[in-house]
Amino acid sequence: MNYIIRPLALEDEPFLWEMLYHAIYIPPEHAPLPRDIIQTPELASYVQGWGREGDRGFLGSETQTNQPIGAVWLRSPRAGHQGYGYVDDNTSELSIAVLPEYRGQGVGTQLLTHLFASELGRLSVSLSVSVGNPAVRLYERFGFEIIRKSNGSLTMKRN
Ligand SMILES: CC(C)(COP(=O)(O)OP(=O)(O)OC[C@H]1O[C@@H](n2cnc3c(N)ncnc32)[C@H](O)[C@@H]1OP(=O)(O)O)[C@@H](O)C(=O)NCCC(=O)NCCS
Repeated sequence: MNYIIRPLALEDEPFLWEMLYHAIYIPPEHAPLPRDIIQTPELASYVQGWGREGDRGFLGSETQTNQPIGAVWLRSPRAGHQGYGYVDDNTSELSIAVLPEYRGQGVGTQLLTHLFASELGRLSVSLSVSVGNPAVRLYERFGFEIIRKSNGSLTMKRN
């Protein structure tokens, strides 16, 4: 598969809503969640009003079709977002997802590589991830460390 990675733009908001749904970890053999779950205020807050100060990230899309396949994005608490991975007002929260049929082929790694190789790599970044989600290993490879564990979730932070 050939794909390119580019910075997120304002008009990518609809794809971020799609990615928000796919960013929810479903353990193997669990039923899919209803699509409208992303409209709950706690989840919607990750994307609602995309384009605030500190909203930055990258998107991967298939070269031939231009089909977006995954995204990683940051949101700052200073712009009014306190998600599950909130640490403090100086730490942006990271979200990431790749469409199911494109997972396990290095796209997530490339998205994170682009993010942290950019000037965004200087930021303090946190995230929330379910205990048992294999993505924990991915985050550890990028320097995230577990700083909190509660109710089946881990908060990880990268300085
Ligand atoms: C997590 C995710 C963004 C990684 O992107 P990817 O393109 O699959 O990742 P890569 O192929 O670059 O890297 C593989 C790593 O991703 C993680 N991974 C792979 N498949 C995964 C899956 N189905 N679910 C969660 N993590 C997965 C693992 O850490 C894996 O590393 P490992 O081989 O050491 O176990 C993607 O798998 C995904 O969208 N998963 C479901 C949603 C999710 O869990 N999002 C994170 C919420 S905190």
